[in-house]
Amino acid sequence: MAGSTQPREKVALVTGGARGNGFAIAKGLAETGATLFLADIGHDVREVPYALSGETTLQDAVDALRAVHPRIYPLVCDVRSAQAVEVAFAAAEARSGGIDILVNNAGVLVLKPLPDLTDAEWEVQLDVIAKGAFHCCRRALPTMNARRWGRIINIASVAGHRGIGTGVAYTAAKHALIGLTRALAMEVARQNITVNAVCPGTVATDLLRGMGSALAMGEEGLLAHLTTRHLSGHPVTPEDVAAAVLWLASDAAARVNGTSLFVDDGWHAH
Ligand SMILES: NC(=O)c1ccc[n+]([C@@H]2O[C@H](COP(=O)([O-])OP(=O)(O)OC[C@H]3O[C@@H](n4cnc5c(N)ncnc54)[C@H](O)[C@@H]3O)[C@@H](O)[C@H]2O)c1
Repeated sequence: MAGSTQPREKVALVTGGARGNGFAIAKGLAETGATLFLADIGHDVREVPYALSGETTLQDAVDALRAVHPRIYPLVCDVRSAQAVEVAFAAAEARSGGIDILVNNAGVLVLKPLPDLTDAEWEVQLDVIAKGAFHCCRRALPTMNARRWGRIINIASVAGHRGIGTGVAYTAAKHALIGLTRALAMEVARQNITVNAVCPGTVATDLLRGMGSALAMGEEGLLAHLTTRHLSGHPVTPEDVAAAVLWLASDAAARVNGTSLFVDDGWHAH
């Protein structure tokens, strides 16, 4: 179509969309009218010391968002698996034609001093956060390239730029995600595709609460400990994270590429 390189109705896919930051991002995108796919793992993982989202949680999230509009769909998908990502994207494409906005949000956290960290605990964090984003970007890009329009938004962390104590694997994984963001932005900018990261500070989600309750300090202790880094002393909310994502997904951010948008109440500033 002459003069139109941008699809009229956006289609978005949010990994880890069943709860927490991912659910708030999905809600914000649904409110823009985007057709939406929520991809989540659907089962627990042995190395992660708290529950992940089951299929019921994913379906409940979809049902809740269908109050916004009906074009919201669940995808059970473990982003660590290239094959699972292929199946999920193929299903999304069959229904919608292809993904315009990809939000790589799935993540897990295992806090442990390095000498106690097992190979499996290292791998699960690198595999969900960094390899999962790689799998989804690789599967999303052919459609974005063909359309000459796309937005990829990676939910990294302040840990993508700072060390988190007893979190070497999480910190390494988030630094890897920042590296992916910068290098991929260079590859795709000429196709009118942007790749950016949002770097939240402390958000009181199941990830932090679950990890905290597995530690001696408890969930309130971990939240309080991490929130002391915030300049105002208040935690970040999932809606704060979602607002940053929505802006990066919008036309207003067309010339923002390869960057990190901190939503950390100033943690990275000191
Ligand atoms: N909570 C925080 O303080 C904080 C701070 C900075 C960044 N983040 C990041 O925000 C993102 C969302 O985390 P959250 O805090 O909302 O936690 P959460 O545990 O509530 O949500 C994470 C979601 O990812 C899903 N998931 C985990 N492994 C998956 C896999 N292999 N495939 C597909 N889905 C998978 C989980 O089931 C869950 O629904 C993560 O990337 C996290 O690292 C969180």
